[in-house]
Amino acid sequence: MTILITAGPTREAIDPVRFISNKSSGKMGYAIAQSAAEQGHRVILVSGPTDLDVPDRVDFIPVESSVEMFAAVEHQIAKVDIAIFTAAVADYRPASVPDQKIKKSGETMTLELVRNPDILGSARNQFSYQGVLVGFAAETENLEKNAREKLERKGCDLIVANDVSRKDIGFDANDNEVLLVFPDHTDHPHKDSKQHLAHLILEEAITLTSVSNPN
Ligand code: C5P
Repeated sequence: MTILITAGPTREAIDPVRFISNKSSGKMGYAIAQSAAEQGHRVILVSGPTDLDVPDRVDFIPVESSVEMFAAVEHQIAKVDIAIFTAAVADYRPASVPDQKIKKSGETMTLELVRNPDILGSARNQFSYQGVLVGFAAETENLEKNAREKLERKGCDLIVANDVSRKDIGFDANDNEVLLVFPDHTDHPHKDSKQHLAHLILEEAITLTSVSNPN
């Protein structure tokens, strides 16, 4: 099978030397990419900047901004059976980016931000993607309810939800504890290493391909 994975943070330029980003390490997406490649699947990994080594036998497409990630996904998604979007894409980017470094002037400074494209939300509507679609949800409250709303709104087959208010799991941690939110039920696997959870999420996604395409 061919599997597209987005991973890592995005960087939204403020000027040539500054950017807005977030604490995503990319570990979860890279672990899924590695697991899938080890099983012999073709893996396309579209990733924002991380400190991680690219897993062996993965087609790697490095990107910086969410607009670049959107374009890479748009280009690749038609040929894949499974799309797993683990990237922590910035919701907003600076409205304009000057060519030169911004000089400090007054005591305050206002940065105008505009909405970024919703890559996961574009898969069904804009890219007409018909394969298995897995999204992630990082929430600090009402985890299952928010994840289920996201599942429906974005046309996903599975949302992997994690509680980012906890320090021992989620962003940059090696372990994770997630809810697997499907259209008709929710699973709650035990807290585990990102490697083991990556394997589990991949297995669930592969099972979903036979449900959505029984032949
Ligand atoms: O709506 P929210 O950002 O919480 O959704 C998270 C999910 O959507 C993740 O799977 C993330 O990779 C994806 N996403 C995206 N493009 C965005 C924002 C989020 O693909 N602009």
